[in-house]
Amino acid sequence: MYVLHFLLIFVAATNYKILMKNSLHKEFNKLFNKEAENAYFSPGRVNLIGEHIDYNGGLVMPCAITFGTYLLVSPNEDGMFRFRSLNFEDKLDIPLQAGYTKTGESWFNYPLGVIEYFLKEGHPLRGLDMLFYGDIPISSGLSSSASIEVVTAFALNELMDSNYTKLELVKLAKSVENNFIGVNCGIMDQFAVAFGEKDKALMLNCDTLDYQAVDSNLGDHVLAIINTNKPRKLAESKYNERVQECHAALTALKQQIDINNLCDIDTATFNKYSHLITDAIILKRARHVVEENDRVKLAAIALSNNNLSEFGRLMYASHDSLRDLYEVSGKELDAIVEYSKTDTNVAGARMTGAGFGGCAIALVKQSAFDSYSKNVIEYYKDKIGYIPSVYSSLIGDGVGELKSVVIED
Ligand code: GLA
Repeated sequence: MYVLHFLLIFVAATNYKILMKNSLHKEFNKLFNKEAENAYFSPGRVNLIGEHIDYNGGLVMPCAITFGTYLLVSPNEDGMFRFRSLNFEDKLDIPLQAGYTKTGESWFNYPLGVIEYFLKEGHPLRGLDMLFYGDIPISSGLSSSASIEVVTAFALNELMDSNYTKLELVKLAKSVENNFIGVNCGIMDQFAVAFGEKDKALMLNCDTLDYQAVDSNLGDHVLAIINTNKPRKLAESKYNERVQECHAALTALKQQIDINNLCDIDTATFNKYSHLITDAIILKRARHVVEENDRVKLAAIALSNNNLSEFGRLMYASHDSLRDLYEVSGKELDAIVEYSKTDTNVAGARMTGAGFGGCAIALVKQSAFDSYSKNVIEYYKDKIGYIPSVYSSLIGDGVGELKSVVIED
């Protein structure tokens, strides 16, 4: 069973590489009858700690991963936008026009939304033939949506000389997600996939947008990503509900303290004023946010002192809080963390991203990665009834142009 599972993962990964190397340009050629002129890549991301913090103006610690979205593109002369994907069958051909609205739930709404924002902000565009390919598992909470938004925005900016800075592109991509797609996300995902750096975590202040790229210092540990493979049906509406709840908490606190964000106060101050929040659920949500923000500060110190066991302790505490106070975990993510806690080769583990399914991460001793994978799969299968996917991930660079689509092994 396990042998078969590993084999499948291996074959899939190998296929991806072969597909990248040999097929992206060929596929483009087949679809559009011409060569792709440019190729771009934007990664996905994981967040090491600081969850549901970005829209509360606090500190987060994401990093870009090596899975991501590829975009091959050529301008055309007939003023059409043509969207194709190697992941999805649905496609769209739409003429260049004054503006666009979201059509259905299809994947191409993400690049369409980016085009809408370029036009809305007064940037002239021309027709483009575009082929997308992503190797981020869809709906896994690894930011496939931020990845496709940012790769499109980056490509348009280069191709049309729109002169946006990278930070402006990040903000534009976030507006697309908030207003065109309709998810009230914070800025973390778009920021991480744009500014990510190889082997670095980004310490980002989501209020000021100041950030530092810090050595990820995992020592003899690797970052394991464990995908629950649970379909995330209600994730968007539940996410927006949490944003509302934080808003309600902030409004209550503002009766007596002059703050703009929940993360403007630390746990001690929160304890002093928490009586202002009379709804028990809202109180739990706010407590998670304030304590999690304090945990990120401690995690940054732990990382800079190479204190991986303290970093791991904070990861577990973060997970417990997301499970009990913020209530965005679920039995699938909990099972992965429960198992990890029993494995002495794991420094720490937690859910990452919005929650409600998606992925967990674990810091696992490199030499024990295979046994960890085997055991976590077994534990999860017994509890949940199907198997998760386990990846060992590298921390990669942010968005950029690919001079060649050939990917190094
Ligand atoms: C999603 C959102 C982010 C962030 C995380 C939770 O990934 O897109 O903005 O809020 O959830 O930390």
